Amino acid sequence: MLFQFSEEQLMIQQAARDFAQQELLPGVIERDEHQKFPAEQIKRLGELGFLGMMVSPQYGGSGLDTVSYVLAMEEISKVDASASVVMSVNNSLVCWGLENFANEEQKQKYLVPLAKGEIIGGFCLSEPEAGSDATSQRTTAIDMGDHYLLNGTKNWITNGGTASVFLVMAQTDVAKGHKGINCLIVEKGLEGFTVGPKENKLGIRGSDTHSLMFQDVKVPKENRIGEDGFGFKFAMKTLTGGRIGIAAQALGIASGAYELALKYSKQRKAFGTEICNHQAIQFKLADMATEIEAARLLCLKAAWEKDNKMDYNLSSSMAKLFASEVAMKTTIEAVQVHGGYGFVKEFHVERLMRDAKITQIYEGTSEVQRIVIARSILQ
Ligand code: CAA
Repeated sequence: MLFQFSEEQLMIQQAARDFAQQELLPGVIERDEHQKFPAEQIKRLGELGFLGMMVSPQYGGSGLDTVSYVLAMEEISKVDASASVVMSVNNSLVCWGLENFANEEQKQKYLVPLAKGEIIGGFCLSEPEAGSDATSQRTTAIDMGDHYLLNGTKNWITNGGTASVFLVMAQTDVAKGHKGINCLIVEKGLEGFTVGPKENKLGIRGSDTHSLMFQDVKVPKENRIGEDGFGFKFAMKTLTGGRIGIAAQALGIASGAYELALKYSKQRKAFGTEICNHQAIQFKLADMATEIEAARLLCLKAAWEKDNKMDYNLSSSMAKLFASEVAMKTTIEAVQVHGGYGFVKEFHVERLMRDAKITQIYEGTSEVQRIVIARSILQ
């Protein structure tokens, strides 16, 4: 087994690290406090090719592998998880879904500008009464011949206020259950499409989360992705890759908090010495470093399996489950290492602790990941 990155992968990692330090770090506390979307920074991420990382250059992307994506996601998430969730949704859910399942016309019209970062996208599966139980879609898309009539509400939509294009799952034929669900490409601005108020969240406060309401929205038939009834499988396949992105986000939140705790422990003195000389702190740092490394290996294994066209359903859920729990645990300990300073905003770790929580919830809760893992090992 060769545990070595290529020159190109290391270059991407460095570019993401530089971008995070130089362009995301300044202002990250203020954006969190005022729930300000990092619009300029996302535009720059697009210009640098980070919003369509794995898309082929033929469709405006950077043509990189999933390992590079994990490395970049970790670096961006160390500093600003509100920016990295935009990156994750655009790359893993929207661009990947379109590149793999959309037709040529749809790719030219939507994937190209999305991969170039000229516009951003959203992914709409969750509903007020369909979260983990994703087959229970209440949003309907009635076949009217040349268009679908879309009605319903979608919840917790990342990029809800800023995206121009949404992939919306909706039930066309209730009798067919999940086989009656379709995925429609819905452009913002269609009559009957309204965006609800921005959610006031515990963490990733800079990201733009909204409910979306559809009332008799006419969506052209040519905007359906794949065959009739393919929507649920589309969502599941897309989320399987998305979970690698969120696992890498969790990894970045954990390693960002760990690096801050390590640095602080070498500067802060108590009982006559730097606190890193106390075994109580050393044991925390040792546990953090070990668990982060294990999470990183799981993320990279899932990415490697995806890049090698293997089945990555089990590994992506394991990576997400483990990395998100490590993110939560590590950030709590990083606050503890900082003592009182950890509880105030200037030291960043309280924000990372708040940001960590969502990684155990979105793109499938920890409980959903356990369902996927258990089914896989028991089959
Ligand atoms: N790949 C391909 N197909 C899959 C699949 C996968 N990973 N997982 C399931 N399927 C298929 C199954 O094979 C089955 O098809 P058949 O009937 O033809 O065999 C069909 O989908 C239904 O599967 P299940 O019977 O397993 O469905 P279930 O109702 O038992 O649910 C679940 C399974 C894993 C719990 C699923 O509902 C799930 O993943 N729920 C969580 C949804 C989720 O992650 N939501 C996140 C919202 S998006 C988000 O957060 C984005 C954001 O903005 C950040």
